[in-house]
Formats: sequence, structure tokens, C-alpha cells
Amino acid sequence: MTANSNSTRQILVTSALPYANGPIHLGHMLEYIQTDIWVRFQKMRGHECHYVCADDAHGTPIMLKAQQLGITPEEMIDQVNAEHQQDFKDFGVAFDNFHSTHSDENRHFAELIYNRLNDNGFISTKVIEQLFDPEKQMFLPDRFVKGDCPSCGSEDQNGDNCDSCGATYTPVELKNPRSVVSGATPVLKESEHYFFELPKFEAMLKEWTRSGSLQDEMANKLAEWFTDGLQNWDISRDAPYFGFNIPGTTDKFFYVWLDAPIGYIGSFKNLCDKNPDIDFDAFWSKDSSAELYHFIGKDIIYFHSLFWPAMLEGADIRKPTSVYAHGFVTVNGAKMSKSKGTFIKARTYLEHLNPEYLRYYYGAKLTSKIDDLDLNLEDFAQRVNSDLVGKVINIASRCAGFITKKFDGTLATVNSEEALVKEFTDAQEEIAALYEARDFAKAVRLIMALADKANQYIADKEPWQLVKDPAKSEEVQQVCSVGINLFRILTTYLKPIVPSLAAQVEAFLNIELTWDSISINLQDHKINKFKAMMQRVDMKHVEAMVEESKENLQPAAPVLDANSPLAKDPIADEISFDDFAKIDLRVAKIAKAEHVKGADKLLRLELDLGGETRQVFAGIKSAYQPEQLEGKLTVMVANLAPRKMRFGMSEGMVLAAGPGGEELWILNPEEGAQPGMRVK
Ligand code: 2FM
Ligand code: ZN
Repeated sequence: MTANSNSTRQILVTSALPYANGPIHLGHMLEYIQTDIWVRFQKMRGHECHYVCADDAHGTPIMLKAQQLGITPEEMIDQVNAEHQQDFKDFGVAFDNFHSTHSDENRHFAELIYNRLNDNGFISTKVIEQLFDPEKQMFLPDRFVKGDCPSCGSEDQNGDNCDSCGATYTPVELKNPRSVVSGATPVLKESEHYFFELPKFEAMLKEWTRSGSLQDEMANKLAEWFTDGLQNWDISRDAPYFGFNIPGTTDKFFYVWLDAPIGYIGSFKNLCDKNPDIDFDAFWSKDSSAELYHFIGKDIIYFHSLFWPAMLEGADIRKPTSVYAHGFVTVNGAKMSKSKGTFIKARTYLEHLNPEYLRYYYGAKLTSKIDDLDLNLEDFAQRVNSDLVGKVINIASRCAGFITKKFDGTLATVNSEEALVKEFTDAQEEIAALYEARDFAKAVRLIMALADKANQYIADKEPWQLVKDPAKSEEVQQVCSVGINLFRILTTYLKPIVPSLAAQVEAFLNIELTWDSISINLQDHKINKFKAMMQRVDMKHVEAMVEESKENLQPAAPVLDANSPLAKDPIADEISFDDFAKIDLRVAKIAKAEHVKGADKLLRLELDLGGETRQVFAGIKSAYQPEQLEGKLTVMVANLAPRKMRFGMSEGMVLAAGPGGEELWILNPEEGAQPGMRVK
């Protein structure tokens, strides 16, 4: 396909589906901004282009996170979905549909694809051994096992590689392994797993790699994987798991990565159901002539360039036209870091800075390569200020005032600089080809070189001098009208990158900026009063954003159910294990309990510690009658310094739970506890 193809293309575009257990950050934003720019460009060119995405809602981490928060996975993913959508919207990322992989459509297509793969002989089963948490009664994914490195002995290393010496291994090889979920020592356990037979697709994949327009780096990576040999892919997980059941089973689930890419189809189906004009089959049937592109990060190439096309082929569905991978974001030359405050959430950014700054900066640096992109915060401010504010918007601000004040807001009736304007409009196909090829950086360089020319033209003509001579009034109008038209052309070119700036320009010029109207010079046309369109980036705001991101080091405030006790009474500041170890908790028998004369809240307890008796005044009168307590076991802090109270010495403290009043329960050990026993 060429960029200047006049025929309307049908294009379906996706970005990778973000996991539904955490916030969007500036690393994620690179991909969504890249894809959004490309999609906006295609739409401006008049193509039928649909951009869909969804939350990736399944898997063990999502299940466990919801458990931790004390809510259902469904509640959690709904909440996260709303947050993600708001972040994207505020960054101007205009999905045509944002769905979830935990949807009816996705279940339908996951089952359909699996059943077809099974019918076509691409699924097999095998019993495998895996680490199992005997306490939580669940199999443990690699990242949920920790232990000592089998190579260098470093403690607390991940289940698959050692941070200290770099060794890679399987979790089974770890020394002193423990489950991150419960702390228990995992055991090996057998279970039957389902496999997708990837090696059967080797010839097709090699062919697809050659025929598709894959990036060089990706083609090289694939060549390496072919040399290493393809393996069967384990697509099942045992209960408990948050996902879809494998058809014909009750305790086996699709591995999250099986139904994640199917989410692209699910989201598109959901879009089609809401918009009957869009023809689902035109995009997904085996013989579809529509184009299908997946924008992804370089870490998930394997899934998208091997498993995914093979699954589609095996299920008689069309394959992607291409998969476009990008690199990672570094900030100030280093990996994003929570302690340095460079791990910046999309929401934190939005609280401090204009989203168009980041869209412009990423746009100005993005190429079609898989290289990492550095967000250097000084350079970011400098680049936005000098390009967008200093070069582009400056053109309008230098010309608009004269048109408004001297010519009642009306542009000249002639184009007095046809050659110059033509130079600007002639660039449109070259710029379009660069957008098409995802070389936004080069497109921006070209646009900024033109902006320099426009500024030079105005500087040479000096309308602020001409205006002093009444005889040159017409020339002032013409010069400024040329300036405004050059500004119009430049902002049309930039519209996919900075859509909200473009919207302000449209309001200012009383027109829609379209690719087709680039060559239509605005003459004898009324424009509106110029208003400042963008503030300069102030480093103070950048610094404040970084500062606030440092605070994010504190564990993120969990999303709590309003009824949760934690919502009313948050967990206190962390203490060290040594602090905890100082507290001596003992089982005590309440030998005697009685009212205290003159005390509204207290009961006097005599606690038998199995050899020693303590007197404790406890504030539990609102919940218990003394006679209810006598003979019961409870837990007490036995080494608390005695406190002198109005009614006598209190020699310890009993442990009780609840908000207070009648809702207060003393802890009540059972099953063989003996007075004096240590509580651990
Ligand atoms: O790596 C990730 O963040 C995955 N959630 C991406 C899934 S993309 C697609 F396959 F769904
Ligand atoms: Zn090691």
C-alpha cells in the first residue's frame, strides 16, 4: 500500500491490551500515543480505520490482587477499566472501542478458536510437574516463587532469574523456595496441561515472516527463534484461576495469554454490534482484504509474531498484515525508577502537565525502529517550548493581531506568495509517506523546517514596521494572511500528533483542518481573535510531577470497599520485625471479671497466665457483661509496662477486635490453647 493511494483502505488497528491490575504510566503511553497518531493520520486521509483495545483482565496476578483488596476480580477490573479509559481519553487517545477480555464476545471467540484448533488437531495434553502452594492450594506461576539462587546463593531471588548474578533457572531449581502468596514451602505436584502445537506452523510462520512487512529487527529475532526450534505452548492453567474455562473441563482455564490477543477480535465484535455499518467479516474472514496491524512493545513480539498468527491460521482466520513493535521508554537516560520519581503514572502527569506536550515529544522522537526512546525531561521542556510555542504558535501570534485590529478579522483576497505557499503544500505527500511509515520523527523535522521558513518570511517582511506606513496597509494584510495560511498548513500536518491544539486552531480559523483542504488557500475569510493556545512548559511543574511520583513509592492506597474496616481505620505505619518480636503475646484465662465503680467503660479482669495472675483494666464494658467473660481464654500483651490507672495498676492488655461499642470481641483462642502459651 502506498501512502497516496486514493482508494479507501479498510484498516483495523490495535494497541496491546493493558493489564487490569495497575495504572497506566508514561511507558505505556508511548505505544498508545504512537498508535493514536497513526490512526488519526489514516482517518484524516479518508480511510475506514478502526482502533480497538481492551483491558487484559485475566490471570493469577489479577486474581490475587483482587483477593488482597478484599473485592471480587470483576469489581476490580471494572474499576481499573474506568480509570484506564479516563487516562486514555485525557491524553487524547481516541479508541473507537475499549473493551475487556472478560467479556461475552471474548469468551465466544476464545472457545471458537480453541475448538477449531482442537478439531484441526493442534491441541495435545500432557501431565507436567509444577510447584504448588500447599497452603493456598494453588499452582504457582514462576514469579510467585522466591528463594535462594541455585548458582550464587543470593537470598530472596525470583523464580526464574537472579538479580545478583544474572543466572537463569526454573523455580524448581531454587534453594529454600517459598511461595510469595502464603510463605509456605512449595511442593511439586502433577497436573494435566493442554498444549498448542506451535511447531506444526513453522513453515507457515517462515513464509508469513517473509511476506509481511515486518521490521528488520523483528525478522532477525524470528530467525533466531526458528534456529532455536519452536516448542509446544502450554495454554492451560489449573483452578483457582481468573479466566475462561477450557471447553469440556471444569477445572482448567485458558492461560491469560491465550485469550488476550483474542481480545482484539472481541473488542472489534463489540464495536460492530454497536455500529451495524461496520462489517465484521470484511475484517476477519480468511480471505479478508482489510489490513490488520498490531502495535506492541518489543517484550511481547514472541506472542504476536509466533503464537498469534499460528493460532489464527490453525483456526482458519486471517493473519495480521503486520506487527509493529516499539522500544521501551527510559527517563533521563535510565530505566524508569520509583525512587527517582521517574516512574510516572499517566494520572500524575495529567495533574501537572498538558498531555499535548508529551504527545508532541513522543511524536518528535518516534521512528519505525525498535530502539528505546529517552524522555529527557529538560529536553522535553526545551523541545516543546522551542518547537510548538516558539515556532508554530508564534507564527499565528505574530500575524493574527494585525488581521483582527486592522482588517476586521478578514484575510486578504489574494495569495501574495504563491511559491512559498506551494512549497508548504507540496510537502504533503512526503509528510504523509513518513506518517504512513511511522517515521513521525522525520515528519516532525520536516514540519519544523517549514515552520522556520514561515518565521523567516515574517521576520523578513516585518509587518510591525509596514503597519506604520498607511500606504502599506494592503501589504500588511497580505503578509499576515500568508503567515496565517502557512500556520494553517503546519497545524494540519501536526493534527494527528496534537489534536487538541489543532481543535483550537480550527476554532480560531473557522475551518476544519483536513488533509484534502491543505491546498485550499484561505482568502477573504473571517478568522477569530487569537487567544494563547499553549503555555510554555514550566520546569517547576515537571519537577513537581517527579516529586509526587517519588511519593508513589509508598504502597499505593488500595481501592477499598466502603464497608471494609480498612476504609474506616487504615493500617498503621509499618514496624520492623524486631519491633514486633518485642511484643510477648500470651494466652490468658479470665479468672474473674467485674464492674469497676465509677468507670463507664472499664471492666476489671483477673487473668490467669498459668502460674501468674495479672490485673488488667479493659475497655470492653460496652460489649460484655462480666459473667460472660469468666472462664474464657483470651490473648494478652504480657510484657506491657504496668500502668497506674485511677482504679489501680493495669498489668498488661487484652486483645479485642471491632470498631467499638457493642461491636467489640475479645480474641478467644480455641483448640487446645493453655494459659501462658505464647501467641505467634
Ligand atoms: O504485556 C502486556 O501488558 C499484556 N497485557 C499485553 C497483551 S496484548 C494482547 F495480546 F492482548
Ligand atoms: Zn545468583
